[in-house]
Amino acid sequence: MEYKVVDHKYDVVVVGAGGAGLRATVGLAQRGLKTACITKVFPTRSHTVAAQGGISAALGNMGKDDWRWHMYDTIKGSDWLGDQDAIEYMVREAIPSIIELEHMGVPFSRTEKGKIYQRPFGGMTTEFGEGDPAQRTCAAADRTGHAILHTLYQQCLKNNAEFFIEYFANDLIMDNDGDCVGVMAWNLDDGVMHRFHAKQVILCTGGYGKVFFSATSAHTCTGDGSAMAQRAGIPLQDPEFVQFHPTGIYGAGCLITEGVRGEGGYLTNSQGERFMERYAPHVKDLASRDVVSRSMTMEIIEGRGVGKKQDHINLHLEHLPKDVINERLPGIAETASIFAGVDVTKQPIPVIPTCHYNMGGIPTNMFGEVLKPTKSNPNAVVKGLMAAGESACVSVHGANRLGSNSLLDLIVFGRAVAIRCSEVIDKNEPHKPMPKNGGEDSLERLDSLRNAKGDIGTAELRSEMQDVMQKYCAVFRTEEMLEEGMSKLKNIWDNKSDIRVNDRSLIWNSDLVETLEFENLISQAMVTMASAKNRKESRGAQARDDYPERDDKKWMKHTIAYIDNKTGKVDISYRPVHTWTLTDEIDYIPPKKRVY
Ligand code: FUM
Repeated sequence: MEYKVVDHKYDVVVVGAGGAGLRATVGLAQRGLKTACITKVFPTRSHTVAAQGGISAALGNMGKDDWRWHMYDTIKGSDWLGDQDAIEYMVREAIPSIIELEHMGVPFSRTEKGKIYQRPFGGMTTEFGEGDPAQRTCAAADRTGHAILHTLYQQCLKNNAEFFIEYFANDLIMDNDGDCVGVMAWNLDDGVMHRFHAKQVILCTGGYGKVFFSATSAHTCTGDGSAMAQRAGIPLQDPEFVQFHPTGIYGAGCLITEGVRGEGGYLTNSQGERFMERYAPHVKDLASRDVVSRSMTMEIIEGRGVGKKQDHINLHLEHLPKDVINERLPGIAETASIFAGVDVTKQPIPVIPTCHYNMGGIPTNMFGEVLKPTKSNPNAVVKGLMAAGESACVSVHGANRLGSNSLLDLIVFGRAVAIRCSEVIDKNEPHKPMPKNGGEDSLERLDSLRNAKGDIGTAELRSEMQDVMQKYCAVFRTEEMLEEGMSKLKNIWDNKSDIRVNDRSLIWNSDLVETLEFENLISQAMVTMASAKNRKESRGAQARDDYPERDDKKWMKHTIAYIDNKTGKVDISYRPVHTWTLTDEIDYIPPKKRVY
């Protein structure tokens, strides 16, 4: 096994260049820390570019608002699994974070008075849920992620951040104390391996939506950082909570923003009924996502779906004025035309709940430091390792994330990790030594996959995994389904040893990239299914037909799921939910029944 390895030394290495990665990178560069950002795709092609509807903050530009109302909505949206101190941090920091984005140059849509335009979004209300829907979601038409990502990348370049573009990060490098000291990456363009030695590695690698067959996620959303953490013996927190966005285009999976319903769009069944009036009489189509997705699924199950197979739902915006569509929803009009052949001014869009977001991820505290909880210390920090964005679980979304709180999470916690690094890194201190054999096991793993001569192609195994997840672990779950799903998934796991890679080169070897990505996906699929089976209650996105009620006594706790990287066996323990706030400006919000 002969590989050329180039060594690098940085204060901080950020893995991933989506919203969290770029916000972290610009903050680090501004603070004078020597920073490298490694990314497998060109930064502005990261999946954040596909975020449409907006980013939440109680700016109050379009009606009275208060960060406390935003906090209440987020806790209720999380079905009381979110950590209340972290949620307070996020909603308070939302306000300065968005003003900073505005000053960096994000081209937000504007009100007549020139303020940032804000639209209603699901689950966002006023007066602690008692008032009207809040206009809290700051938008750049329906291309908010695109606008933010491009601005952040420009700011990174302005601040001389260094990028390693189209480098695939393979593994973390851990030392004998269990601290992280760097990361191994493969330059896809010339086949050379790179060993990055760093005081902090920050994982901002996004979610793992591609474990499902139908997902709004890009093909690149393979949770690479979370799997790297798993291989380093770090658990994932709350992986059973997977969000299904109500409005993915039927058949294609592309996102149609919730902003459509925020601007007045609505859903109907085959009888032309606005069925959300029955499920959420107060806020109707603007209920939180898990509620809308379940309601749509119920309509389909009960035979009121639309289309030949009665297996989807209609989303209407034909009644909206043309200038609203042109100014505020131009992107989805184009997407609907290309992927559903629909003219949104004349016809409804066929939609279906589609996997959209992972609430779970690498456990972190609110500074972004990665946690490896022990019995005596649920907040034990892994030195040298941080995470932010969808790959992390802070936990601010608990069992269900509210729409537009994701871009917010990326920006607030991308900013927070940069602030934390500037507090804990002494530029004049030497790095912790790199172990002599640092990165060798990673090269061995890559080499064995590159030379895999089994009988099963990667695409075949991946599509089996996606089918199993879609069939046995989607919107509604039961013990029986999960049991069967788990055993099918275990077979797929075992068949990894019989995988075949045809291309042995090191330059743009997409066969090998996809195989590495599949390895990353399958270990996250395993903990997702096992944790869903383990949690015997319904809460947020986990809807168990056989345990239909939320059970706060037994289950108001975070899942901590470890995988044995050799056997695939999943071990589950727990971490307490933080039932305290950050300041005395708001009290703990106790659980109550979640109705909209
Ligand atoms: O519907 C949307 O625009 C998606 C937003 C989100 O997931 O936060």
